[in-house]
Amino acid sequence: MSLLLASAFLYLSNMKIIIINGPNLNLLGKREIDIYGNQEFTAYFAELQQQFPQFELEYFQSNGEGQIIDKLHEIGFSYDGIVLNGGAYTHTSIAIADALAAITTPAIEVHISNVHAREAYRHHSYFTAHCQGFISGMGLLGYALALQYFAAQK
Ligand code: DQA
Repeated sequence: MSLLLASAFLYLSNMKIIIINGPNLNLLGKREIDIYGNQEFTAYFAELQQQFPQFELEYFQSNGEGQIIDKLHEIGFSYDGIVLNGGAYTHTSIAIADALAAITTPAIEVHISNVHAREAYRHHSYFTAHCQGFISGMGLLGYALALQYFAAQK
């Protein structure tokens, strides 16, 4: 019984971290492989769960700006961390930036490609000012690096 209580306590004390991927990132593994690589995100997410067993890790992807905002509102006052790849909304969405400013859960902005080495319209992010950090150009590894940052906070 006490073992059960101890494992329940451990489970309850896990940090809750969510990875949020924005538009077109559901196509990872098929989409512009030369830029984004050939691995599907769900397979990579399973690897992350194994690498970070200390986290209660969640994955959310949406192509809709409103859905991403709703998710940020839902988790943004109770979770311990957000790893956000907003896709193209990064460069256009004041509404998602406002949601990031409104919530208290810290976020790390991640981009698979090096957005500063690409088209000029990808150089500006509305999100960076509301995030703890920014990782770009490290491929999928960027997500693991963001999780490592949260792991170091504990
Ligand atoms: C991206 C970069 C964005 O400019 C682009 O619109 C994406 C993916 C990246 O992960 O490199 O959809 O966020």
